[in-house]
Amino acid sequence: MNFKTMEWKKGSFFLLDQRKLPLRELYVNCSTYQEVGRAIQKMVVRGAPAIGVAAAFGMVLAAKQSIARSPSAFLQGIRKAGRSLIKARPTAVNLLWAVERMLQVAEKNLDRGLPLVRKSLREEAQRILREDIQANREMGRLGQTLIQDGFTILTHCNAGGLATAGYGTALGVIRAASQAGKRIHVFVDETRPFLQGSRLTAWELMKNRIPCTLITDNMAGALMAQGKIHLAIVGADRIAANGDVANKIGTYSVARLCHAHRIPFYVAAPISTIDLKSKEGAEIPIEQRPTAEITTIQGRLIAPQGVKALNPAFDVTPHRFIRAIITERGIVRKPYKRGLKALFSR
Ligand code: MRU
Repeated sequence: MNFKTMEWKKGSFFLLDQRKLPLRELYVNCSTYQEVGRAIQKMVVRGAPAIGVAAAFGMVLAAKQSIARSPSAFLQGIRKAGRSLIKARPTAVNLLWAVERMLQVAEKNLDRGLPLVRKSLREEAQRILREDIQANREMGRLGQTLIQDGFTILTHCNAGGLATAGYGTALGVIRAASQAGKRIHVFVDETRPFLQGSRLTAWELMKNRIPCTLITDNMAGALMAQGKIHLAIVGADRIAANGDVANKIGTYSVARLCHAHRIPFYVAAPISTIDLKSKEGAEIPIEQRPTAEITTIQGRLIAPQGVKALNPAFDVTPHRFIRAIITERGIVRKPYKRGLKALFSR
């Protein structure tokens, strides 16, 4: 990997500031869980798996910050930290998943003494980070079989190394296909309004020498009509039990366009993104972000002052438009309800 999305180094947590990419590769240091929460909220780090891993390290910092003397006071403190980290962004379930996993480790080790609890939390966060990279590589290995030599692929948002602890989910599948020697070309949706496609995905693909072309979001349909796209693949922020997928706003349009043009539309996500508690997409909370992300670009107004705007960060793609969901435990096809549930007993 030619960059690190995040790193725990000598008791400090560093995040590559994704707001500054592609112009500057700058790392910010978080020394408190509150700073991690703000970094997630402000999109210093973004992408469902990446914010989950970052939250796990936020919990490590919360444990380090704690001045509690009793195990119960310690637990109370880190539970509070967990609640505040979860609130940073509501759609990606990985955040909740990672915080709950960290709390379970704290609870399990509580009577071994606080120094040992802190150590076990540090180890667990490192494990979550390593497991995420392994899961991505496995998704890549499995998913690349769906890509043929000579394919042109469309992707939306950024589901690459930057959106994970490393390697990427949807972009990991693309990378694996390229590494397997397949000659592919990637069309990158710029992904308004935050421009994850143009700023991050194009940057990653170029770093990995994978041929790509940047397009604006509204060009995808025309390219499909011209027969220029063989397959589309995206990541996910939360997958409901029935296979409905919440992902970056605009994903639904891509999926519908693929359906209309009979182009396979795939989702790649680790099982930490699957939320069996949400029965269907309608139950997934959709984050509403500040409208300044739409009305301004780098602080400069690009719409009439005071205009009303709407900025939902995600949308839901109904499962019927998804050809398959690629996970580290296997490729799931319809009926998703059964297939997704079965992943958890493997
Ligand atoms: O708002 P973002 O940039 O966090 O949204 C990211 C996405 O929607 C990604 O596609 C998703 O998190 C999957 S990343 C592997």
